[in-house]
Amino acid sequence: MRKVRKAVIPVAGMGTRFLPATKSMPKEMLTIVDRPVIQYAVDEALEAGIEHIVFVTGRNKAPIEDYFDVQPELNDTLKRAGKSKQLTELDALQLPAGAVSVTRQQSPDGLGHAVWCARDLVGDEPFAVLLPDMVSYGERGCLSGAMELYAETGGNVITVEECDPKLTHKYGIVGKGTQIGTGFEVTEMVEKPDPSVAPSNSYINGRYILQPEIFALLGNQQRGAGGEIQLTDAMHRLMEVQKFYAAPFTGRMFDCGSKEGFIQANVAFAFARSDIRDLVLEPITEMVAAQEIRSNAA
Ligand code: UTP
Repeated sequence: MRKVRKAVIPVAGMGTRFLPATKSMPKEMLTIVDRPVIQYAVDEALEAGIEHIVFVTGRNKAPIEDYFDVQPELNDTLKRAGKSKQLTELDALQLPAGAVSVTRQQSPDGLGHAVWCARDLVGDEPFAVLLPDMVSYGERGCLSGAMELYAETGGNVITVEECDPKLTHKYGIVGKGTQIGTGFEVTEMVEKPDPSVAPSNSYINGRYILQPEIFALLGNQQRGAGGEIQLTDAMHRLMEVQKFYAAPFTGRMFDCGSKEGFIQANVAFAFARSDIRDLVLEPITEMVAAQEIRSNAA
């Protein structure tokens, strides 16, 4: 079985759900507590054993490239100011030289098209895809679970989480086959099914391990929903010839491309940080209590 060494992180989307903030700033640079959303995806990839990150960027996304580059002037200033704690923190986040590649998606033609843009940088080997605005929260990152299942099954692996069975029409839902190792075989993938016909309530939550054969399919994939080249459509075709498995994620994924998911993530990650927790817990608890009093009075 071939090792998964590379992760593709598509960041070329327009982020229209987060306007006006994303008018001049990539949504991936919005911060959760004190680090940008994109840092969480990179940390998760490294934790899962990924050695090389491929960013698929677009226009107006230069701050992402700059963020992952070294900043000698900043380092010098921190050193001169004796801010060794901050310097050590920055050093720890620095990716090794040559461990990052960047390619551009020239127009936002969909997630499938963005992944296809990484074909030459990935080459003929299995690879991971992480949608960075889906931020993984839990004891271990979502991709680590996918890697574990991949080691047991090979093939293609997607990660899933359970949604409210009444809300299947909002998600890509999978059909459940035989239980295998830490996951199960995927029998079908249905885009946004009505709860009355949904094969399960397990939804695809933004992490994939794919075989390189997906690239040829993406290369001739017809435009689908929203006039975009959809990764799910190409996965459907790959499923006709290769197995797909699902790794259930036991943590929680926050959709930080949405305002509510982003705010929830900030609260959850702040509560998980010993240096911030007490500073935010009390005021938030007071705000919640005041809100309850107001709604009870209304
Ligand atoms: P989303 O649909 O969540 O991102 O795509 P978006 O299009 O930026 O969001 P909204 O709906 O307008 O707010 C999921 C992921 O795929 C990337 C996005 O950057 C995001 O990480 N993507 C999407 C691309 O790289 N290229 C595309 O053409 C579309």
